[in-house]
Amino acid sequence: MTRHEIFVGNSSDMSDVGTGSINLIVTSPPYPMISMWDEVFCEQEPEVGEALLAGDGMEAFRKMHRILDRTWKECDRVLAGNGFVCINIGDATRTMRDEFRLYPNHARIIQTFTDMGYSVLPDIHWRKPSNAPNKFMGSGMYPAGAYVTYEHEYILVFRKGGKRQFNGEKRNRRQESAYFWEERNEWFSDLWDIRGTSQALAGTHSGRERNASYPLEIPYRLVNMYSIKGDTVLDPFTGLGTTGLACMIADRNSIGYDIDTEIVHAALSNMDREISTLNNAIEGRIKRHLAFLEGLSDAERSKCYRNIPHAFDVKTKQETAIKIERLRQIEKTENGFICRYEHGTAIY
Ligand SMILES: C[S@@+](CC[C@H](N)C(=O)[O-])C[C@H]1O[C@@H](n2cnc3c(N)ncnc32)[C@H](O)[C@@H]1O
Repeated sequence: MTRHEIFVGNSSDMSDVGTGSINLIVTSPPYPMISMWDEVFCEQEPEVGEALLAGDGMEAFRKMHRILDRTWKECDRVLAGNGFVCINIGDATRTMRDEFRLYPNHARIIQTFTDMGYSVLPDIHWRKPSNAPNKFMGSGMYPAGAYVTYEHEYILVFRKGGKRQFNGEKRNRRQESAYFWEERNEWFSDLWDIRGTSQALAGTHSGRERNASYPLEIPYRLVNMYSIKGDTVLDPFTGLGTTGLACMIADRNSIGYDIDTEIVHAALSNMDREISTLNNAIEGRIKRHLAFLEGLSDAERSKCYRNIPHAFDVKTKQETAIKIERLRQIEKTENGFICRYEHGTAIY
């Protein structure tokens, strides 16, 4: 059984979340100096608005990050020792007082986590190609006044302390939560080529026209990479609840926070999916694995191991206990969902 809850509130104070109770944080904050988020920062700290009005980009950038720092500090309180933090963030480019420049959000966040004593681990470049015909900025074909077009964002990875140890029952759960060899090869590469998701916000949200959601694939990979089944994953900037959805299909508990009441309502309806839709996503993982097996030569196949719960081949011994369970029931609660799974039933 997994539980999924979303709270309305500023994640600089997550008093509903116990100290050290979270195993993994997967999130994407509002991006400082990207204009669609100006208002969200100004509402939290009027001095941001003053800096923007004065055209002082660097001062606005500093003040916006100080707002995010409050949430990062609270994340540090709730995260268990040896837990991971994965943050999707893009740098911003903007012209202020006739100066075009880059605002390096990813570097500023790395600094915060370094100062909090976290291990900074290799990050991922999420490449999301732009189709815009006029994506190149500056002086066209004449040197030297054109600017490189940004088509990537970062997924920063931090760890609180040393390697996590898995004893007793957690050791079995870790083996069931293993990923396939071919998933490892793709997920642990530093370049993810994943198309962005639809930016149209469903319903009629008064303040914002775009939801800035990441595609489900992003939190789904991260949750599988850095947590085990039954863990609790927090998203302190939950938006439409994509991290929570990923947790529902990955058999992890989730907690979300968002400052915007309307967005929380939209998140709850976004997560309220048909069980068959979520089971299709769960089964998709198996189907991709079976397609991978089809592509192996006979010689490669003969060296495979047998996965016990599903009775199919796998490349390595570490994959023999992987168990992927379908959802049996989704129950709505006051602020989220409880998911029950078909334990003990192999899909294939
Ligand atoms: C980039 S969006 C997150 C999108 C999300 N990953 C998704 O897939 O839908 C950032 C969210 O953070 C929320 N937010 C901004 N400041 C906040 C704060 N201090 N506490 C909680 N939520 C905040 C915004 O309302 C917005 O929904």
